[in-house]
Amino acid sequence: MLAWTPTEGADDPIALTEVDAPRPGPSEVVVQVAAYSVNRGETFLLEAPRPGWRPGRDVAGTVVQAASDGSGPPVGRRVVGHPAQGGWAEQVAVPVDAVSELPPDLEPTVAAALPLAGLTALRLLRTMGPLAGRRVLITGAAGGVGHYFVELAAAQGAVVSAVVSTPARGRRLLELGAHELLTSVEDGNGPYDVVAESVGGAVLGQAWSRLAQRGLLVWFGQASREPAQLDFFDWRGGASGTLRKFDASDGDVPDALDLATLVRLVAGGRLHPEVDRVRDWRATPEVLRALLAREVRGNAVLTVPAPSA
Ligand SMILES: NC(=O)c1ccc[n+]([C@@H]2O[C@H](COP(=O)([O-])OP(=O)(O)OC[C@H]3O[C@@H](n4cnc5c(N)ncnc54)[C@H](OP(=O)(O)O)[C@@H]3O)[C@@H](O)[C@H]2O)c1
Repeated sequence: MLAWTPTEGADDPIALTEVDAPRPGPSEVVVQVAAYSVNRGETFLLEAPRPGWRPGRDVAGTVVQAASDGSGPPVGRRVVGHPAQGGWAEQVAVPVDAVSELPPDLEPTVAAALPLAGLTALRLLRTMGPLAGRRVLITGAAGGVGHYFVELAAAQGAVVSAVVSTPARGRRLLELGAHELLTSVEDGNGPYDVVAESVGGAVLGQAWSRLAQRGLLVWFGQASREPAQLDFFDWRGGASGTLRKFDASDGDVPDALDLATLVRLVAGGRLHPEVDRVRDWRATPEVLRALLAREVRGNAVLTVPAPSA
């Protein structure tokens, strides 16, 4: 079968390559991938790929081989999945505890945008606790995680300030419930009870200085690739607060359950994946360039042609 594999150093970081078919473990299904999404974090991993690693954590498609231990969905079921790797391919093995079945009206091009960004947003919110009436700041809000986070936080009753590079990139965030758009953290009045920060560099320190007394700053990424700058003696904002480093994979709820929650919210019209573009999977290198150039709002989705009969 064909799959995108790391090239390490060529003009493009990936090449479409013939690879072995997936060899699933006893509690894994094989999914025929119809669509997948790409994430900024994966572009970072492509810079220094581990031997044997292939990118791809967000897939939607059809089960073509059930798990041999009898668990999980049978052959023919449409699913969304969060494999550990290898989803930018015609087929991928996914643990049954990282798949959720799709209702008939949820298209793979929408469902594929859910796993990594959606799980991250959901788990950020769980980490933050109840948000009704709380003032929340999110940086990097125009991205994949940002769109889900804003809609889910606003639905809880949070007053969400969303930081974006231009108002145009935040337009959808206002429709999803953001209270205001900021083009710089420095323009935010604060104080914020809770901050979700994923840009790094000077931005983390700027956000910290707008945190309310005993506020919570959840640090979940470094899109700028610049190490975060903090100054203990910067006394703007609260004199004390909590800084929490966050990893979406460190959770108590299995991926399958959280994926099912995301699917239920989408199917019920309470969560709206922002799919900026859908392209044939052969355009993956071009889409990665757009992602790195900050041209993608929300998520980009790639479609994989159905196998010929
Ligand atoms: N901790 C975890 O478990 C976890 C899980 C998922 C993602 N992450 C991290 O969280 C961050 C957001 O993920 P994502 O998938 O939502 O990424 P994304 O879709 O690429 O969005 C990132 C956003 O960051 C903004 N940004 C601001 N300064 C930037 C800069 N110097 N370079 C690049 N982007 C900049 C961009 O905003 P504009 O569009 O307004 O320019 C962009 O929309 C990434 O750093 C990712 O690695 C962490």
